[in-house]
Amino acid sequence: MIRIAVMTSKGGTGKTTTAINLGHCLALSGKKVLIIDCDSQGNVAMAFNQQPRRGLSELLLTGEVDIVKARTNLYLIDSGGKRLVESEMVITSQSDREVRMSQVFRNLVGSDYVICDCPPTINLINVNALNYCDYVIIPVSMDYFAAEGVKKTLALIEEIEEKIGHSVKVMGILATFFDKRTRISDRVYDKLIHEFGDKVFVTKIRVNTQIKEAQENHKTIFEYAPYSHGALDYFLLTKEVANGHG
Ligand SMILES: Nc1ncnc2c1ncn2[C@@H]1O[C@H](COP(=O)(O)OP(=O)(O)OP(=O)(O)O)[C@@H](O)[C@H]1O
Ligand SMILES: [Mg+2]
Repeated sequence: MIRIAVMTSKGGTGKTTTAINLGHCLALSGKKVLIIDCDSQGNVAMAFNQQPRRGLSELLLTGEVDIVKARTNLYLIDSGGKRLVESEMVITSQSDREVRMSQVFRNLVGSDYVICDCPPTINLINVNALNYCDYVIIPVSMDYFAAEGVKKTLALIEEIEEKIGHSVKVMGILATFFDKRTRISDRVYDKLIHEFGDKVFVTKIRVNTQIKEAQENHKTIFEYAPYSHGALDYFLLTKEVANGHG
């Protein structure tokens, strides 16, 4: 079982989009996938047209696991929305607060991949996700300060690793919002390669409005526009992940 946290300290870099579309593509290829929404925004359930549930918020409090089947081979644990924030506050004073997820999932078997969609803040939920996962994917949008953002995220992850005594491996740094029409995307991507070498996925996720539209229509890109650039890019990313990048 390969457990991946999709995480950055910066908002709006395509984390949720990556968790959803990578997860669905792996499921379409025949792998059993579980996506855990670790963000109180609850965008994962929305993207798959699922009703909000107590999901992770309940799991942290009671240890009860509420998994729904969203597609063939694809299962979800919803975040629980605002309740997740309340649960985080409740467990803050408990001694096992950083390992709750790992404890509950200790006996969880049967998935080939578990993907945690993390919020852009460093909170107790992300600490739990990092404790549970073995790998991290860091999506980074092609802005001028992208490399600095990655360094900041890596430093935060390292800080948490030291604190919890569990290390995660960077599976890959993923270029998102890549825009071929602007030279800045190429420059930023080259800088990432220069700084982080083969940790950077070869696949670049291009700007593609159909990715946005797919989410508005509660579908993945493979359902909404399977012949789009977005579908091709996420397919190529999935191949890199399945081939063991990182
Ligand atoms: N390649 C893309 N092309 C066009 N739009 C995209 C692309 N990737 C993501 N988006 C859109 O950009 C917005 C932000 O993406 P997303 O929600 O995946 O980011 P996030 O990193 O999860 O954000 P947050 O930090 O708030 O959790 C969404 O509306 C999404 O549909
Ligand atoms: Mg998100």
